[in-house]
Amino acid sequence: MSGINYSEKIPNNVDLANDRTLQRALEHWQPHFLDWWRGMGPKDFQGLDVYLRTAVSVDADGWAQYGAVKMPDYRWGIFLADPVAERKIGFGDAMGRPAWQQVPGEYRSILRRLIVTQGDTEPASVEQQRQLGHTCPSLYDLRNLFQINVEEGRHLWAMVYLLHAYFGRDGREEAEELLARHSGDADKPRILSTFNEPIGDWLSLFCFTYFTDRDGKYQLKSLAESGFDPLSRTCRFMLTEEAHHMFVGETGLGRVVKRTLEVMKELGTDDTARIRAHGAVDLPLLQKYLNFWCSSSLDLFGSEISSNSAANFANGLKGRPDETSYDDHVLREKTFELKTPQGAENVPMLNALNEVMRESYLKDCDIGLRRWNRAIERAGHAALALKLPSTRFRRSIGAWAAQPVNPEGVVVEKNVFDKNLENWIPSEQDRAFVKSLMQRVVEPGKMAGWVAPPDRGINNLPVDYEYVKVH
Ligand SMILES: [Fe+2]
Ligand SMILES: [Fe+2]
Repeated sequence: MSGINYSEKIPNNVDLANDRTLQRALEHWQPHFLDWWRGMGPKDFQGLDVYLRTAVSVDADGWAQYGAVKMPDYRWGIFLADPVAERKIGFGDAMGRPAWQQVPGEYRSILRRLIVTQGDTEPASVEQQRQLGHTCPSLYDLRNLFQINVEEGRHLWAMVYLLHAYFGRDGREEAEELLARHSGDADKPRILSTFNEPIGDWLSLFCFTYFTDRDGKYQLKSLAESGFDPLSRTCRFMLTEEAHHMFVGETGLGRVVKRTLEVMKELGTDDTARIRAHGAVDLPLLQKYLNFWCSSSLDLFGSEISSNSAANFANGLKGRPDETSYDDHVLREKTFELKTPQGAENVPMLNALNEVMRESYLKDCDIGLRRWNRAIERAGHAALALKLPSTRFRRSIGAWAAQPVNPEGVVVEKNVFDKNLENWIPSEQDRAFVKSLMQRVVEPGKMAGWVAPPDRGINNLPVDYEYVKVH
């Protein structure tokens, strides 16, 4: 089951050849996907050889094969993690019953909605990032960007497979719509607002892959718990691909910190103007980018109180990330203390699951910051340590929506908030400065001046390998 069949038009490990109707439907969608990729995928780089990994099996180790590929020739396909024998539903009121191999009729529309919402984010991020190739800080980074892009394209395939295979005509229509909405489009935007924010520079890309792809990881982890087994298996394999996207964010931001500390040492100053004049990202500026992308990504978890997520959990559709690490999988008795602008209140735990997820997400976000802060402290700049903003800061949904709260989580006067916002998130000027740093570097092994080289290359190759043949 683990092996992937590459001899077919659509590589897959779901025995597509034995389901002619489904195969035909997906082969009909395939050219629409390719048109979308050519029109909305990475701009102007489609004819170049890129050193990419392609999944060749779904085993935990050794699932990838590396080689030079032109992106439109990438073998997008359908890969599900191997089934777990006699898998049972692991949470909610139906806990312990056999996992569903077909969509239960009563959950059809909600499952379709969950899959469409996840699926919509995948091509959205490719669209958001399509201009970045022109300003890459190195060939190594350019290759990583394209790796992420083709894998987000594959994640779209993953969701489209589920829609086609399990949701009949509605599913096929949704699959077309996934190619018709576009990031930032005034008439047909992507579903979630973070996925309509343009990603115009590489500092934003590193923040996006650190914070927003990590939201993706948490969503996939909770869907991997689903009682709907095909969804669970699909998401389990997507998670192995997703890990690289967060690696790009974490090491990318770590390399920015490293370079900034080098410049500070060289200049013997923490003066932000001088650091900027030297072409590096001062740490307070980085903090603003973290504030922006973290707060934007926090909204993706939804309102603190949500009857939808309560129902999804109780019905066995969407669990908590790492469900087995909890003691209670039914949650009918538990409560959660929620702090709102009106004070603390106790709510049923089932209704607070978005907040539970948001908290575990933030713990995961904090790991990278702790690592970067160790470097900052070692360099003697502990006062410039980086922090995550409060979950109340700059929220646009939930209990804290539109509240004037500073990044520390303290409610302030509205005019204080308005006046200080540009000290908390990037101002026009900050963005223009970051943009000015984005000069394309494509000599093998060379790096732009605002980011340190990575510790090692991809797949044991040297850092100066020609990961994208641009010459
Ligand atoms: Fe993805
Ligand atoms: Fe991703």
